[in-house]
Amino acid sequence: MGTPSLWLDRETMRRLGYRTIDALVERLSRPWDATPIVRTATPEELAARLGGPAPEEPVDGAVLLERLERDVLPFMARNEHPGYFAYIPGCGTWPGALGDLIASALNMDVGSWGLSAGPSAVELAVLDWFKEWIGYPRDAAGILTSGGSAANMTALACAREAVVGAMSDRLVVYCADQAHSSIARAARILGFRPDQVRVLPVDARSRLRTDALVAAMEADVRAGREPLFVAAAAGSTSTGAVDPLQELGEICRERGVWLHVDAAYGGFAAIAERGRAALAGMELADSVTLDPHKWLYQSFECGCILVRKGHQLREAFEIVPDYLKDAKGMVLREVNFADYGMQLSRTSHALKVWLSLQHFGLAAFRAAIDRCFDLIDGA
Ligand SMILES: Cc1ncc(COP(=O)(O)O)c(C=O)c1O
Repeated sequence: MGTPSLWLDRETMRRLGYRTIDALVERLSRPWDATPIVRTATPEELAARLGGPAPEEPVDGAVLLERLERDVLPFMARNEHPGYFAYIPGCGTWPGALGDLIASALNMDVGSWGLSAGPSAVELAVLDWFKEWIGYPRDAAGILTSGGSAANMTALACAREAVVGAMSDRLVVYCADQAHSSIARAARILGFRPDQVRVLPVDARSRLRTDALVAAMEADVRAGREPLFVAAAAGSTSTGAVDPLQELGEICRERGVWLHVDAAYGGFAAIAERGRAALAGMELADSVTLDPHKWLYQSFECGCILVRKGHQLREAFEIVPDYLKDAKGMVLREVNFADYGMQLSRTSHALKVWLSLQHFGLAAFRAAIDRCFDLIDGA
């Protein structure tokens, strides 16, 4: 027997690939009543099925697929099921899933233009769509992230760099008590202590109370602190409430405070008329979080941060080590995504968005969102 290799011949690659695709199509097209919508098991049961050391010898692909079908895949939510209403996950799209497969099979690393010009251009094209949909200017910049939590953290880091630079215990972050927990987590990770985060009350419609915000900012200024960042929600997690974005835009602009809109949940409603009306004012924000893996029907993981003055995002994150100087696109238009966020090596989250939008067309996504509004109206 020769030295084991990690490379497969064409026929084996094809056989494994076709078998996997067939198994997935079977699974996704099961009758709705074939298996429970959610099935779980205890950690002990699953450890008994899956634990143990890594095998020293190869395991046949068909055997592995059978194990997955028996020991792993039954124990997860069928979030493609029409009866699945828990939390926020959607079902993703098949062209999107193929996009993830392509990104992974070719091991795309979309950190630098020099190594990944094509996939970088796809990401730029997707970001241009998003900018247009939310009413952002063309010179806004952004990056696709693992999700809304990463996007919110990127926004807070960018705001701190753009407004003040170094961290200070005088800086204050404001959000409603309905804000997603990722805002508080971002603040904690970035070194804001709990007393630097003001959690404010909401009105009868669960929206951030602007009078409470103004009063808190004024009290902070009087006490020698520096209001830095307001995190508004455009679709709060529990109720879908949209904070008063226009008014917040004015309050923040007057005081030189960064307005971030966490539109992870609600932002893509902007492609439908009723959504656009509900989200008016989002375009005034300094930064916006969007989660294609929520209301744009993409599979996990897929989030996005957009920053209105695009250069602020690059200035907040760009650090070029010597060993990467040659891989970097040197022309300004050649975007190196490693300069726009915390990751260097990163897959293409954009490819699945691009493929599924091209495959179905934007009208199909708009219709899906409109159907949700019809359901709300009829509820
Ligand atoms: C409004 C809002 N922001 C942020 C997040 C966090 O997003 P992710 O789970 O993609 O990290 C969520 C998740 O539900 C959310 O609803």
